[in-house]
Amino acid sequence: MKYNKIKKKFIYFFLKKKHKIINYSTIINNDNSKMLFINSGINKLKDYFLKNKKIKYTRIANAQKCIRINDIKSVGKDNFHHTFFEMLGNWSIGNYNMYKAIKYSWTLITKIFNISKDRIYVTIFKGNKEHKLKKDIKTYIYWKQFINKNKIFFKGFKDNFWKIDNFNLCGPCTEIYINITKNNNIKFKKNKNFIELWNIVNIKYIINKKKILLNNNFSSNNYIDTGMGLERLAMILQNKKSTYDIDIFNPIKKKIKKVLNIFSKHNKKYKILINIIIDHIRSICYIMNNNIYPDNKKYGYVLRKLIRRCLIYRYKIQDKKTPFLYKIINIAYKIVFNKEDNKKIDIIKTKLKDEENFYFLSIKKNIKLMLLYLKNNNIKILDKNKILYIYSTYGIYYFIVKRNINKKIKIIDFKDIKNNIEL
Ligand code: ALA
Repeated sequence: MKYNKIKKKFIYFFLKKKHKIINYSTIINNDNSKMLFINSGINKLKDYFLKNKKIKYTRIANAQKCIRINDIKSVGKDNFHHTFFEMLGNWSIGNYNMYKAIKYSWTLITKIFNISKDRIYVTIFKGNKEHKLKKDIKTYIYWKQFINKNKIFFKGFKDNFWKIDNFNLCGPCTEIYINITKNNNIKFKKNKNFIELWNIVNIKYIINKKKILLNNNFSSNNYIDTGMGLERLAMILQNKKSTYDIDIFNPIKKKIKKVLNIFSKHNKKYKILINIIIDHIRSICYIMNNNIYPDNKKYGYVLRKLIRRCLIYRYKIQDKKTPFLYKIINIAYKIVFNKEDNKKIDIIKTKLKDEENFYFLSIKKNIKLMLLYLKNNNIKILDKNKILYIYSTYGIYYFIVKRNINKKIKIIDFKDIKNNIEL
């Protein structure tokens, strides 16, 4: 089943269950918290959960475009992390409880999307002493009506207690995992052969700045927040092993290969490069479409970081310092918005090309400054302190240092800091 059809089916299912379908909100999270971008569907609904705004609807669903930067180092390297993704969600704001939410997700996954029951596993909150939270037995009882108890696992605060950020809505959650192998008898292990698909949270508390849980806002158990990654669902329904292999990414993959001249069967390094570009260009496109442009602070800084990660990775793999992202922005726009808008794309394209050129110029300038530093200080040996100094002063990665220094300069003792400053 194709990506856009999956999205429609999800929305239609909840429409039929009398949910109000709302548009996705823009990307900017303007609630004065330290979180810059909308990173899950509930962000937009926060004020209704907190009763700061009058509730118009108590059953809501949508597909929300999200940006999450915190896992950026894994993006492109594993098979399912993204900085940009769409989250399918349904919410009960004082309406239905966890049982109903579980029933909806079970019906949708097994009956509408026909995922075999044998492949489904769940995790539930096991309680926490520090916050005096009890084991979520109710949810266990609910789940037992659908799946065998040997497929239910209790996990702690880190895994099964969800919060938006450190001082906000939160609560125990239950997560649905799908076995992505063909073997139904393997042992359950998160994020290896089992992919997290759907998170169902029972919003019960507010966590304050001192990390204390307050529960005075929610008198009933009928506050539910759910989120399911559309890319992951598409991966499962299309029988792929990686979210980067789903249908919507095929045209962009083809374009990247053409623009970067990747013809032969690529090795792992090339695969990572292509994945990073596939992912980051969607974020770049979505952010720039909101009239945010590269800058040294806040939103523009994140954008700059995403652009530079693509460029530097390509420089590392192909040893080329030429702009290319602007050549694939058209197709990225089509994937993100499912339409074309030539006026908007032209602006984004120009700004993107300028930023790409600007970065390569600054790399060139900084390489010169680094060489001057080495010469003026008569440096013949580069140890880890000097490499760290070069990285923090000139923003130059290790591989660039290596490519540009005089062969007579020796590099020693570098291995143990590699992870800190490699891409
Ligand atoms: N808001 C919850 C999440 O992002 C559902 O996982």
